[in-house]
Amino acid sequence: MRTQVAIIGAGPAGLLLGQLLLRAGIDTAVIERKSRDYVLARIRAGVLEQGTTDLLDAAGVGGRMHREGQIHEGISLAFAGRLHRIDLRSLTNGKTVRVYGQTEITRDLADARDAAGGMTVYEAGEVTIADFGSATPKVRYIKNGAAQELTCDVIAGCDGHHGVCRASVPPSAVQLFERVYPFGWLGVLVDQPPADHELVYANSARGFALCSMRSAARSRYYVQVPTDEHVANWPDDRFYDELRRRLPAQIAAAVTPGPSIEKSIAPLRSFVAEPMRFGRLFLAGDAAHIVPPTGAKGLNLAASDVRYLAQALIEFFGERSEAGLNAYSTRALARIWKAERFSWWMTSLLHQMPEASPFEQKMQLAELDYLCQSQAAATVLAENYVGLPV
Ligand code: FAD
Ligand code: PHB
Repeated sequence: MRTQVAIIGAGPAGLLLGQLLLRAGIDTAVIERKSRDYVLARIRAGVLEQGTTDLLDAAGVGGRMHREGQIHEGISLAFAGRLHRIDLRSLTNGKTVRVYGQTEITRDLADARDAAGGMTVYEAGEVTIADFGSATPKVRYIKNGAAQELTCDVIAGCDGHHGVCRASVPPSAVQLFERVYPFGWLGVLVDQPPADHELVYANSARGFALCSMRSAARSRYYVQVPTDEHVANWPDDRFYDELRRRLPAQIAAAVTPGPSIEKSIAPLRSFVAEPMRFGRLFLAGDAAHIVPPTGAKGLNLAASDVRYLAQALIEFFGERSEAGLNAYSTRALARIWKAERFSWWMTSLLHQMPEASPFEQKMQLAELDYLCQSQAAATVLAENYVGLPV
């Protein structure tokens, strides 16, 4: 079998890249180790920057997002019993974000790929990559018990943090930067109206909490928990009780509990692999970097990587020019490090660090108070939250 671009992973990065290339007439094959149903059931991110929605439009999959996604013009910060709104729109010359679940984006992309007849292999076993130092890299996998080999011009490693692509690079060729936080987020999805019409990020003495949503009828809530915590210890009643105790009174009163339809714990980490290109192998999305979810940047960064990579590949196949491919890693990393910085800062501002001294706790509260008083400080938050230029 032969294709131009072998894309490893059918998450948002892989499927979006596949869609952009397909529309440019470039042949792709997407190789995914899980089943289609499994991929479409994962509950993850929810907040999209304008640059991400523009890219979904360019990929021809923005229709349902425009109909069903909600535009948000602000977020609220809660701390010390106070609630302060950051007006994203007025602080950024009219920019906003859109609330539309990653699950829905993945479904829209997978449906569009199927409709266009793009090749997708789900439940591919024992995926390996080889020869990416040459002009004819290979992807090998097992499908229905039979060994398969795919030869291509380029491999796009869109296989997430635990994928095979980054792991196939010799350790001496890649530099890893990592910070693991001593806590995670326990998340609950529930079919009840959200506590507020916009997101509320709460710093409380009991730990961080976030009130988010997927629609006017579906809420997504998170509370900070220690890394070694287990979902089984958190029946719904305990979750809502803890959530409310971390929120200002008016928001706590507006939380409508209900049976959770999903409950999981995500660990928090910051991680970057440099560079993102190894011969004919290019990493994109979580395969190359992870941000803690506090800044809502993970999915958006995956999208901006894909934008740069798709442009470079279209140039490569159309004009036989490697200029875009040569610039890809440097270009992507410049944006990634700024999103890493913002996500780390938001995480540090809003969570209770287990080893924090009383002085450091005072510093958090002083910074939050400053954000409420200073338009300059609020503007820094807002311009990062809506997304830095792509
Ligand atoms: P992924 O979505 O991880 O997709 C990678 C795909 O590759 C998967 O389908 C995987 O099955 C497949 N794969 C892996 N290994 C192989 C292999 N060897 N062979 C073939 N296929 C393989 N971001 C936010 O902004 N807000 C959030 O609330 C949030 N919550 C998150 C919760 C969790 C548990 C996780 C893991 C991430 C969360 N993120 C969140 C981050 C965001 O979801 C990711 O940044 C986004 O999914 C990145 O997309 P991706 O396509 O790069 O990677
Ligand atoms: C979510 O709705 O899942 C969500 C929203 C904002 C974040 C993180 C997660 O910062």
